[in-house]
Amino acid sequence: MKTCYITINKDNPYNEHTKLQEISKFLTMGELVACPTETVYGLCGNALLGSSVKKIYEAKGRPSDNPLIIHISNLEMLNKLVQEVPKNAQKLIDAFWPGPLTIIFKKKDIVPFETTGGLDTVAIRMPNNKVILSIIDECNLPLSAPSANVSGRPSPTKAEHVKEDLDGKIACIVDGGNCDFGVESTIVDCTSEIPILLRPGNITVSMLENVLGKINIDKTITSETKLNIAPKAPGMKYKHYSPNAEVFLFVGDINEISNKIIENVKSHNGNVGILCTDETFEKYKNINAKVLSLGTRKNLNTITANLFSSLREMDLLGVDTIFCESFSKEDEGLAIMNRLIKASGYKIINI
Ligand code: TXA
Ligand code: MG
Repeated sequence: MKTCYITINKDNPYNEHTKLQEISKFLTMGELVACPTETVYGLCGNALLGSSVKKIYEAKGRPSDNPLIIHISNLEMLNKLVQEVPKNAQKLIDAFWPGPLTIIFKKKDIVPFETTGGLDTVAIRMPNNKVILSIIDECNLPLSAPSANVSGRPSPTKAEHVKEDLDGKIACIVDGGNCDFGVESTIVDCTSEIPILLRPGNITVSMLENVLGKINIDKTITSETKLNIAPKAPGMKYKHYSPNAEVFLFVGDINEISNKIIENVKSHNGNVGILCTDETFEKYKNINAKVLSLGTRKNLNTITANLFSSLREMDLLGVDTIFCESFSKEDEGLAIMNRLIKASGYKIINI
């Protein structure tokens, strides 16, 4: 299939009506369109059409028991998809939508099981990015959209990343610039009495607690070893976010970590990459490794924004091994560590 490329102005997409019509036509015909959200690029298809949803699983090579998030642009759409909006969900909607938060609800029959991976619940979010919102408005369809990467690879934060993974496999790629946040949305299950955090993201635990009071955290998302229990978000059980290179995550005191990384580079035969931070960058100056800084520890949002693109860049630099610094699991650090632990496949070096 020849993929059609459309560039759209991120700040004013509603002015580009002809382009929106063209994009919308692919979606109403059941084809797939990749476009930006504020977190990562999404691979969109009509959420209500099983055949369109099947194409998403095929293009990504995604296991069909891994349900998709539905993206909406207004609350009328929400009411058509879910049985009820529990009180806690309403509080989260008021506080964080549109934004990087996905909420799990009980689904209505109209939502096909292809979208929910056979579950009776459905994941929904209203993204805060004008490109995807204008596309949803134009086609007037709720859109199923997983991250627009081949399953297992780091999520895409630029149109180029989508091209690397999906060129020739989908109808259209919309280039709407870089994504602001860089890691996928926080997921909260609101179908139980006390809401449960299923995936950490830029909406942090303390932000959620401020709104909800108490929240439970799915144990599997913070664990540094593979637990014998299944995560409640089925997708979290798969190896994820992995570049081609092997990732080793160094956990412990930051000064000791960098010394240990330097020691390991010296004894490694091969092409090594180091993922570090602005605070430690200079320390790695004189060793034989490709070094990328993820950003500053003083502003973890810079780290989330660069995380996946840096993992992809390491592949382009041809390294076979990546040594990566770790972060405290406070605030956005929880999302960063969750993704790095997955990217390393639990190859953690405790200092
Ligand atoms: O930021 C995001 O959420 C991005 C952008 C494109 O919106 N999307 C995204 O989708 O990350 P995906 O497919 O890569 O991740 C969806 C996650 C998976 O871990 C899946 O198992 C979980 O959401 N999920 C979806 N429906 C669920 C449900 N009904 N119950 C529990 N987990 C669910
Ligand atoms: Mg994904």
